[in-house]
Amino acid sequence: MDARTSESKKAQALPECTVMEVRVGKVRRLGQTDIMTGIDKLVRAGPVRISTLGVEGDEQGEKVIHGGPDKAVLQYAVDHYPGWRKEFPGSAHLLKAGGFGENIVASGFDEENICVGDVVEVGSVRLQVAQPRQPCFKLNHRFQQASMSRRAQESHRTGWYYRVLQEGTVSAGDVMRIIERPYPQWSVSRVQHYLYDNTGDRVATAELANLEVLAAAQRQLFAKRLSSQAVERWDDRLADAGTEAIQSLDCAPHSDGDWTAVRVKIVTLESKRAISLVLVPTTASPLPPSKPGSHIRVKLPIGLERCYSLCNVSDGSNYKIAVNLAESGNGGSNWLHKMLRVGDTLLISRPVDAFSVVDSAKSHILIAGGIGITPFVAMIDHFRRSGARFKLYYCARSPADAPFHDVLKQLEADEVSFHFSRGSVAKRLDLSQIFTQLDASAHVYCCGPGSLMANVRAAAKDMSEQNIHFEAFTAGDRQGEPFEIRLASTNQVFTVGPQQTILEVLRQNGVQVESSCEAGSCGTCVLSYRDGEVRHADFCLSDRERKDRLAICVSRAAAGGITLEI
Ligand code: FES
Repeated sequence: MDARTSESKKAQALPECTVMEVRVGKVRRLGQTDIMTGIDKLVRAGPVRISTLGVEGDEQGEKVIHGGPDKAVLQYAVDHYPGWRKEFPGSAHLLKAGGFGENIVASGFDEENICVGDVVEVGSVRLQVAQPRQPCFKLNHRFQQASMSRRAQESHRTGWYYRVLQEGTVSAGDVMRIIERPYPQWSVSRVQHYLYDNTGDRVATAELANLEVLAAAQRQLFAKRLSSQAVERWDDRLADAGTEAIQSLDCAPHSDGDWTAVRVKIVTLESKRAISLVLVPTTASPLPPSKPGSHIRVKLPIGLERCYSLCNVSDGSNYKIAVNLAESGNGGSNWLHKMLRVGDTLLISRPVDAFSVVDSAKSHILIAGGIGITPFVAMIDHFRRSGARFKLYYCARSPADAPFHDVLKQLEADEVSFHFSRGSVAKRLDLSQIFTQLDASAHVYCCGPGSLMANVRAAAKDMSEQNIHFEAFTAGDRQGEPFEIRLASTNQVFTVGPQQTILEVLRQNGVQVESSCEAGSCGTCVLSYRDGEVRHADFCLSDRERKDRLAICVSRAAAGGITLEI
């Protein structure tokens, strides 16, 4: 029995993984550059045919370098993305499944545990690992990080290509099994070691030049190193002229016309997980005054934009916002809690009034959950000054979880009612009691987690739509089945993937749409639609409006797709 047969017999002990997504790319321009690429790949639902030429429908911008039978299918380890997001937080929104232009998104295989020559069975297809991917400058443009391709090469987190031994179909959910491992000593990462790290080892170089399962182009590369006793130049592959112009998303913030620079003057801990920030102008000019219920967008130096309600009614001298540390803790709230310091500069938008107080109302009912209290702090100040009648119902797990509790507990007994559940469903706010006693002329305002707002919407079903107001700054669970959107004006069709929003897909395809809260509450992104069924997830449209309009930042369509009037 030779070594190859004996290794093949160990196949049951080899790693397995499950296909999470199959993706195909359409060639398009990369950002503002002249680079044409198919790196931006969309999820393909159902069985996808894979032939020796690649994944059906997958287009490559540059076929000499990126195509061919030895590069028919690209796989990338989805497990690498969390590390990348930590390393490049400014590009975190791009560093997610599909980001590297992979055809197969899966968890379990990576460059360390997969070997050149491995035969992998998946669906009705047999694939063979042909070579590590050699990263190029397109990754720098793709992720707006000038060092991205070099870091991918240095860290060996590049992905790998397969050739196709047996054509067939693959679907999400199919298990990938290694059924042959002829060269267990040649993991993809070890090939990369001699390709990039230890380029002077002539024994390994000679072995790789003659490794018949390695892609022909890489065998030639190693053979050339042997004959020339030199290593080829990598610089042109890793950086083009445009790379130098890339301003990394991880640089300090820079001003532009729509954004005003403010300085962080005070940071205060307001609850176990919430801080407040007092933001002041950086020049002698005051900030635009705000109204009760206004919010601002904040542009972080790491490239993220987030909406925050103002906790004060500002005369222009300062704005106060509160930020809760999100459970996932990887995005904007994490940065603001852990990286921001007093004296730092942030960029902010003008105040947006999407959750306005109706001053003509006889009374106001405020229902807040956790950090959803922030717009109400400003509203309560306004009501107390104007003498308007109001009552706040404030829900949180405990006083320590309730931002601004110390201030709000000083309100009069008929102005506030606290509901601390301490994890017990029985102690939650009884909404039916509020709505059965409600004066028909009262206005109700709600801000908090999606579950609270959905319960309030259900309890308020008999109220006039004009009298109930919601504000959300956290998009709910955006996962769902993929669906297609058609643009009525151009007939273009785009696929919205399971974790994408319509808004994101339109922007990725160069269609500019206004947005603000991106959580379904402000109405800025609302579009008309026809020819389809919508799964509405907003808090800004009435049932009547939902018949032909949707908030594209949160709502999805059923599998048949929809036509957007745009
Ligand atoms: S951007 Fe606010 S509802 Fe969509």
